[in-house]
Amino acid sequence: MTTDHDTHDHVGHDRANGFDIAFAQLLELDAEVLASYLAELTGLLADLTDPAPARILDLGSGPGTGSLALARQFPTAQVTAVDLSPQMLHRLRKQAVVRGVADRISTVEANIDGPWAEIGPYDLIWAASFLHHVADPARTLAQTFEQLRPGGLLAVTEMDLFPLYLPEDTGVGWPGLEARLHAATNTRPNHEWTDQLKNAGFTVEKRPFEIRLDHAQAGPSVNAYAQGFLAKLRSHATDLLDADDLAALDVLLDETQPNSIARRGDLRVHTTRTTWIARRP
Ligand SMILES: C[S@@+](CC[C@H](N)C(=O)[O-])C[C@H]1O[C@@H](n2cnc3c(N)ncnc32)[C@H](O)[C@@H]1O
Repeated sequence: MTTDHDTHDHVGHDRANGFDIAFAQLLELDAEVLASYLAELTGLLADLTDPAPARILDLGSGPGTGSLALARQFPTAQVTAVDLSPQMLHRLRKQAVVRGVADRISTVEANIDGPWAEIGPYDLIWAASFLHHVADPARTLAQTFEQLRPGGLLAVTEMDLFPLYLPEDTGVGWPGLEARLHAATNTRPNHEWTDQLKNAGFTVEKRPFEIRLDHAQAGPSVNAYAQGFLAKLRSHATDLLDADDLAALDVLLDETQPNSIARRGDLRVHTTRTTWIARRP
């Protein structure tokens, strides 16, 4: 891990070139709307760790929704969040202050593809929607293994069905628009880490999570969450969807329209995630 510097004092600002604020907000909304799922997953990790983890590492933390959920679940743990992006880490530090856990969360701006400093041993390492980003997952898993204490856990999570939000018939355009948008933009990534985890020396248990929330269960942030996600898919869809569907999607994304995603009360969230719970023997 090439550690440029500890970013406690780094002033990362959202105006920096190339930083995708909308993406950071989407990750934060995902965690807010899916809070019950995050609590279930961190609760499962609590059941599998004895004693409770004292030192936790969050790899590719982004804005740190995992770090914050882990700090809540393990109220005496110290959490270290690592990410390439100073702006993501800046958002995490701000949230850590808001939630009163700034003394238990530290951030490290580093490239996980580089050589790792001796930063362990950790009791628990978390890698959510991250492992598929690294250049050489086998090498990252071997490095992660070395940073865990014997008996320590690694939780690798991937999203396998991107969230669905819309009713079958939105009242705009043809029914089934969201399914066609997902099919066109290929939103079912097929990550499979079991063999690579075993090759790195871990014992592995694979846990699927299916999340289904109606609008009331998802809460009022679901409109912004759906708007952000579908706007991102729309940006990839221009040459992939037919003109009628693109026009309908643009109406749904137009916040001034009465049927728009921003205003509707009939959204839902359906998504699936997989966590590989890997233990260093
Ligand atoms: C999809 S986001 C996931 C963020 C967070 N784990 C979550 O679940 O919301 C992936 C994150 O990995 C970071 N990242 C990608 N490649 C990286 C690398 N080589 N070293 C460090 N961070 C990396 C990105 O900056 C981004 O914040």
